[in-house]
Amino acid sequence: MTGQTPALRLEGIVKTFPGVRALDGVSFSVMPGEVHALMGENGAGKSTLMKVLGGIYQPDAGQILIEEAPTVMASPLEAKAKGVVFIHQELSLADELSVAENVYLGELPRKSFGRVDWDRLYADTERILDRLKVGFTPQTLVGDLSIANKQMVEIARALTVDAKAVIFDEPTASLTDAEKDVLFEVIADLKARNVGIIYISHRMEEIFRITDRVSVLRDGQHTGTAITADTNEEAVTQMMIGRKLDLSRNVAHHELGDVALEVRNLSCGHLYKDVSFKIRRGEVVGFYGLVGAGRTEIAETLFGLRDPSAGQILLDGQALRITSPTDAIERGISLVPEDRKGQGLVLGMNCRDNMTLPQVDDLKAGPFVAEGAEVAIFDQYRDRLDIRTPGWKQLVGNLSGGNQQKIVIGKWLSMHPNVLIVDEPTRGIDVGSKSEIHNLIRDLAAQGYAVIVISSEMPEVLHVADRIYALFQGRITREFTSEDVTEDSLVRAISGLADNGGAQVA
Ligand SMILES: Nc1ncnc2c1ncn2[C@@H]1O[C@H](COP(=O)(O)OP(=O)(O)OP(=O)(O)O)[C@@H](O)[C@H]1O
Ligand SMILES: [Mg+2]
Repeated sequence: MTGQTPALRLEGIVKTFPGVRALDGVSFSVMPGEVHALMGENGAGKSTLMKVLGGIYQPDAGQILIEEAPTVMASPLEAKAKGVVFIHQELSLADELSVAENVYLGELPRKSFGRVDWDRLYADTERILDRLKVGFTPQTLVGDLSIANKQMVEIARALTVDAKAVIFDEPTASLTDAEKDVLFEVIADLKARNVGIIYISHRMEEIFRITDRVSVLRDGQHTGTAITADTNEEAVTQMMIGRKLDLSRNVAHHELGDVALEVRNLSCGHLYKDVSFKIRRGEVVGFYGLVGAGRTEIAETLFGLRDPSAGQILLDGQALRITSPTDAIERGISLVPEDRKGQGLVLGMNCRDNMTLPQVDDLKAGPFVAEGAEVAIFDQYRDRLDIRTPGWKQLVGNLSGGNQQKIVIGKWLSMHPNVLIVDEPTRGIDVGSKSEIHNLIRDLAAQGYAVIVISSEMPEVLHVADRIYALFQGRITREFTSEDVTEDSLVRAISGLADNGGAQVA
């Protein structure tokens, strides 16, 4: 790579926000045809650096060079025109428009008299969608797509220009394995066309699978760059958090209590069928399966968001109907949802109020909410979860992606539920905080809570769960205890394949 001109280079970039020095003189470059990983803890400055590059923020100091020529990115459209395309961590699509209109937003092809050339728009979009092998059409309404498919629309948008560099900010967080493979093919294709790729992810296996170099940010500073083939997970983690992590397995050493929640032959249309399981106080149960296996839908039923079509839910041995989330919360069931943006947070509200939102009624002292009590709750969970923010007054929309996630987890923990359901609890969370959240889940179980962890990450369920239910196409295919589980039998169980080990669920 020496002697070559970087496709893109950042030099001494500084960016501050009130109370935060997000970037403190960061330099970084990407070569043509290189996949360069950008890693770092939640709040380290990765997205901010990319927003500077993509014309969303103006730096306080430093410069951007395209093929060594200094340049200014005054706006996202200007950045795109200069060949820098940004695929965001937060989706930025218009739900009420079609896929094609989103892909060419702001740049719709026009005929004379300025009328939109729909034929061309749909044909051009079709060509890009073919490259991505997606199952929807240019005419599909974006609001009707799953999160994963919306992500594909974002990617399609990036493929409309002749890019010099493409930035992917945690693109795989909500993709299935098959969709991830398609994404990696797209990246390989861009690489072959000599495009420079900047790839942000917290997932080590992806970093080691597809990247050529890794750069690490820590507290707004660049702490190092390594050639991926010459380094390893441990070294990268150390660069990120400045210490080694204990990743040993973590299984219950406390007594289990009574059955807190039991589900008998629960079905919900075609989403899941004949699901039965139990969870005791003090136990962590993992629901492991591929995206789309029905895990989230089961959780939503327990939280009163979906009506089951058959079967029973028993709480402390009592059969009951849960008709709404308010009902669920009153009965001590909490859900940390998968789609935190949509269901978990109010971005325009501050950190403290987001965290105490479901408890406002309980915290009321007469007609007023007891401010001190709210701040105390916020402080407690900020410390416990290591939430990085200058203070409780910060708007949640200004926090980094991973820190937003921690706010949602804190919100539901602070309610002290009997049954806590967490759906993909560490999606978008850095390795250090991930193990903190896992320890926290274990602590909650030790205190007598029943915890359900829904995850598509095998190391996560293996690490935290006492028992694991494997799901495949809306059914529980197997049940494992932490003693009898093996990686191989888990993979088989979530793919609908038979196996000899483990207990077969009748
Ligand atoms: N618009 C903003 N206003 C105020 N502070 C901000 C703003 N954008 C980012 N920050 C702060 O800058 C710091 C860096 O945030 P950034 O989003 O770049 O982190 P990140 O490395 O992308 O983290 P994650 O892995 O969680 O996505 C954080 O402390 C964040 O709260
Ligand atoms: Mg980010």
